[in-house]
Formats: sequence, structure tokens, C-alpha cells
Amino acid sequence: MKAKIGIFLSGRGSNLQNIINAIENQEIDASISYVFSNKIDAYGLKIAEKYGIKTVSLSSTTFATNDEYFEEIYNLISCFSINFICLAGFMKIIPESFIAKFENKIINIHPSLLPSFKGKDGQKQAFDYGVKIAGCTVHYVVPEIDSGKIIAQAAITTEGCEDDVALSEKILKAEHYLYVYALQKLTNNKKITEKRINAMKDEILLY
Ligand code: GRF
Repeated sequence: MKAKIGIFLSGRGSNLQNIINAIENQEIDASISYVFSNKIDAYGLKIAEKYGIKTVSLSSTTFATNDEYFEEIYNLISCFSINFICLAGFMKIIPESFIAKFENKIINIHPSLLPSFKGKDGQKQAFDYGVKIAGCTVHYVVPEIDSGKIIAQAAITTEGCEDDVALSEKILKAEHYLYVYALQKLTNNKKITEKRINAMKDEILLY
């Protein structure tokens, strides 16, 4: 069954672009129903428009509370029937009331090997700590930040990364493999998953 996906983002949208590419290459059996952003000028929205994907954006500035803001987001997106909401660089904290409406359907990518380095700037936290193995995690979203059950992780070495910017770039490359892998897992696309794992051997470890 083809999965229907909604994407939430706040910025440049490289993970969105990567998911679009994977769908076009038939690596994931899915379609993107809409892209939502809290930033009306997010570059990710432009990427979506380029591919004819429906976009929805709403700034939080006029809402008194985060709960009210997300109630309105719900009103805007509830007309789409989706299997998953993928957070891809979405920089707002999602309230419990919204998460409850999509139980086990909201997933997030975080640029660290959770449960280490939760919250903002996971890559810098990892670099400053001096870790030798870093990576990223796709997990279910629960009210506590970066704490839901892990779906998949990608590990890389920090070798050759002179600063946190270089480490972020290396992790981003792993993110692009990981999100596709996680969506393959969730949509039971096992055959292609094997192919993808073999293609990346020695560079990025996916689990
Ligand atoms: C990624 O590093 C992701 O892990 C984090 O935000 C960044 C989004 O990047 N949550 P992009 O907008 O997908 O390029």
C-alpha cells in the first residue's frame, strides 16, 4: 500500500528534497500529500512548489498559546488523510494535544545518536564532547523532546571533522540515507532496504 506522508519543516528542506528524490526513484512507496511550514518564507516550501506538492504555512506570531496555534494547524491539515507526518527540520515544539491526534504517526529526524545530545545543536554538542562516533536518529514523536521510541539510527565516525560545521555536513549526509531507510522500514519495503544498506557499506552504518 502506498503510504501518504505530510512533511513539517522550518528551513532549507534538504531532507524534503531527499525524500522527494527517493520517491521519484521508487525507493519508497509513498506520496507526499502536503508540506507544512511555520515559516512562510522557508526554502523547503519552494522545493515543494517546484514539484507541485500542496503547501500550507502558518506563522505562530498571532496566537496566544502554542496549543491554540497547533489547533489551527490541525484545522488546516486534517483534511489530508495521511499515514505519517515526517518532521524534517521543524523547529516548533509540538504540544501533547496535537501529538495525541496522530498517535504513532509523527516521526522526527534528530542529528545525534539519541538518547545523547537531545535538543538544539545536537551536532555541536557531540563535537564539543569529542565523541568519536556520531550520527542521527529517526524516532516517534512524544511530548518529551527527542525521547520517543527509536525507529532507525545511522552512525558515522567523526574522523576528519575539524569543526562542528564539518561534522554537521557529515551527519546531514547520513540523515539523507537514514530518513529514506526509516520510511522503507515503516512501509515494509524490505527488498530495497537491503540494496540501500549494501550501497553505503563502510561509510554510514544504518540500523
Ligand atoms: C537537520 O539537521 C535535522 O536533523 C534537524 O534540522 C535539520 C534540517 O535540515 N532537525 P533540512 O532543512 O532538512 O536541510
